[in-house]
Amino acid sequence: MHQDTQVITDLILQAAEKARREVAAEPEPELTKPIQWPVTCTVGPGLEGAISCETKIGYVNGSKGWLIYRGYDIFDLCACCSFEEVAWLLLHGDLPDEDELAGFRAKLNDYFRLPKTTRLLMGFPVEEMNPMAALRMGSILSRQEFTFVDQDAAKPKESMAISADEDSIPMETKPTGEQHAIYEFRTGKGRPRPDSAATAMQDTTGFESCYHLLAGVATLAGVVARVRAGKLPVEPDPELSFAGNFLYMMTGRRPTPVETRVMDVAMILHADHGMNASTFAAMVVASTLSDIYFAVGSGIAALNGPLHGGANEAVLHMLNEIGSRDNVAAWYADARANGRKIMGFGHRVYKAYDPRARVLQPLAQFLARTDHGMGKMLDIADTLSDAVVRELGAKKGIFPNVDFYSGLVYTALGIPPVMFTPVFAVARVSGWTARVQEYLEHNRIFRPRAMYTGPFDRKVSDRKKRD
Ligand code: ACO
Repeated sequence: MHQDTQVITDLILQAAEKARREVAAEPEPELTKPIQWPVTCTVGPGLEGAISCETKIGYVNGSKGWLIYRGYDIFDLCACCSFEEVAWLLLHGDLPDEDELAGFRAKLNDYFRLPKTTRLLMGFPVEEMNPMAALRMGSILSRQEFTFVDQDAAKPKESMAISADEDSIPMETKPTGEQHAIYEFRTGKGRPRPDSAATAMQDTTGFESCYHLLAGVATLAGVVARVRAGKLPVEPDPELSFAGNFLYMMTGRRPTPVETRVMDVAMILHADHGMNASTFAAMVVASTLSDIYFAVGSGIAALNGPLHGGANEAVLHMLNEIGSRDNVAAWYADARANGRKIMGFGHRVYKAYDPRARVLQPLAQFLARTDHGMGKMLDIADTLSDAVVRELGAKKGIFPNVDFYSGLVYTALGIPPVMFTPVFAVARVSGWTARVQEYLEHNRIFRPRAMYTGPFDRKVSDRKKRD
């Protein structure tokens, strides 16, 4: 670990210590254990309280503020591990040894390269699209480049080949970032087209496809960020870590060791979080024996909403709207009077302080020391947090959640607000794919029911006589 990054580790360890102190008085929860199906539980609207499956991947305890991946405390993982190690842990159950990690990194480096999908994606008006829509489309397009599924004959006859090969699709936007750049991929034509789909088709359900998606979605988010900024995509650099590469592909600038470490921590914090809406969406799709590419596409779609992953961007807009620390009290009073929800606060599970916000707040504070604009935003954020927690903390269990400080951290790393939710998605691919893999071991198609409350016994009337 680089010596400059020790300060980040120290901040995480301090946050862990504070968290343990503050929740010490909360009673120790009874540890969860395997269940006997069918299970009896009390279900609220939005499936609150419903148990849909067993898992060994992660555990969230709302009153203790615990977040545990595969038995490890989130604070310890943030302090000691890289995102690659945590992604491997989620997928395979144990932290990787040196050889496993080296092999995993080599694979990810290979799968970061997605020249054909990048070309295809750039044929769409990415700069005008919702970035999550572009990310979702890119991840579905990558299915073909990685797997060659759905092709009756993988290699078309010469006479059948038309000029609409993906390499000939012109770019929709003229790049403005590099004056003399010609967009050529170092890797040439990418993965060779197989002679026959039947022999070359790769698995769309196994771990290999999870690795594809982990790296591929990061590259696609990089492409979306660059094209939206009017610039050309950046080739991944195999010398960089996952977090470093991802930042580099989004910003076009090689990050410092401190920036890389902060990004690593942010990605670890976002990797998994129980049966949240996007994970559930991904699992529902996978449970139909559709494949992992479609499942991840659904996760991306669900994460987009402002009540879920989209809140991080909304927080930044809210802080901008408040404008200054002195405006916080009036803005907050007005928001409460109008029944407005305060973005970045509250959580379905946490009724104590979200441990992820506990880590991100001091990281934002650390980054703000060298960034005056960021310092001002953080001041507004902390003042708002005090006001919300004072009124709603003890009364309703409403505290800052992961999204409250993540946007400030991303801003300091040079990531624009429109990319906050895609960044979240890239990290969460690890949780989505791990949980899908686990669920498929004992798959049963998801099929809850809705209670019909409409009328019965209606008679079909003549069309001309209907109101
Ligand atoms: N600001 C003000 N009041 C709130 C907030 C908030 N952010 N969150 C919940 N409440 C209040 C509700 O108004 C409601 O009050 P009531 O009992 O008087 O009607 C009560 O707390 C329960 O709220 P619900 O919306 O029913 O709680 P639920 O568990 O369904 O929702 C959610 C959780 C969606 C996260 C909610 O807290 C919210 O909308 N927060 C703002 C958006 C946000 O930050 N989302 C990111 C969540 S983290 C993530 O997805 C990664």
